[in-house]
Amino acid sequence: MSQLEPCQILDWDTRFWGFRIARVNGSTLSAETQGRVREWCRAYQVRCLYFLASPSDPETTRVAEANGYRLVDVRVGLSWSMANGRSISMDTPGVTVRPALPADREALVAIAGENYRDTRFAIDAGFAPERCRSFYETWILVSLDGYAQNVLVADLKGEPQGYVTCHLDSPGTGRIGLLGVNGSAQHHGIGRALVHSALAWFTATGASQVAVATQGRNVAAQRLYQRCGFFTESLGLWYHKWFE
Ligand SMILES: CC(C)(COP(=O)(O)OP(=O)(O)OC[C@H]1O[C@@H](n2cnc3c(N)ncnc32)[C@H](O)[C@@H]1OP(=O)(O)O)[C@@H](O)C(=O)NCCC(=O)NCCS
Repeated sequence: MSQLEPCQILDWDTRFWGFRIARVNGSTLSAETQGRVREWCRAYQVRCLYFLASPSDPETTRVAEANGYRLVDVRVGLSWSMANGRSISMDTPGVTVRPALPADREALVAIAGENYRDTRFAIDAGFAPERCRSFYETWILVSLDGYAQNVLVADLKGEPQGYVTCHLDSPGTGRIGLLGVNGSAQHHGIGRALVHSALAWFTATGASQVAVATQGRNVAAQRLYQRCGFFTESLGLWYHKWFE
């Protein structure tokens, strides 16, 4: 696809949600580019358009809001760097963090399906709630099947209580994909144990930087990452535009 196209079709999202989904290329919009985006979406019969907007360009938010784009999330990008020297080692009593096993699948799917009620899909009524649940169940399954380079599981008394998925996108740089702790086991240091173990695994593979993204409304996740030495690196405004 040409770089000059204003949008791109998202094949995986389109297959998963069952209607055509595209994303705006770039993070700014003017009246002129929004006109091109609209025509492109009509031509490709797009039903839902994602747009990750720069928060620093007033024209972009003005144009988006004047044209029916709905703000659904604030994306918070955080990063951890070995150079900042804030890797805190810790143990959470009774919790073992280990690589995922085939026998964990059912328990991890159950946690994933419960855990993501404040994402941009869950709060946008255009996405059916049962499909939102399935979205995260699918995500942990494909991660276990090789989409992630490693999935670590927190085990408490022989029962999986949480997971973190680890990706190596480029040499020296890691990324946390999904992190979740069973609702009944939260606030006991399991999330922290998972993030510390992920950082230990990343550094053992030679990564010196680790990135993660979470939602602006997810204060729990932001505080957890900050406790583990991550710093905020970027903000983006997630908009969805529906074409009926
Ligand atoms: C975010 C999440 C993983 C935290 O797991 P957890 O096991 O409860 O976290 P911990 O007990 O290890 O707490 C670690 C730190 O996180 C922060 N934290 C955890 N829960 C919090 C909450 N409800 N409100 C504010 N801060 C919270 C705190 O800073 C805490 O450290 P502190 O108590 O010393 O201040 C968990 O709430 C969860 O699974 N949420 C749903 C899924 C999700 O949001 N995943 C992250 C997506 S990127």
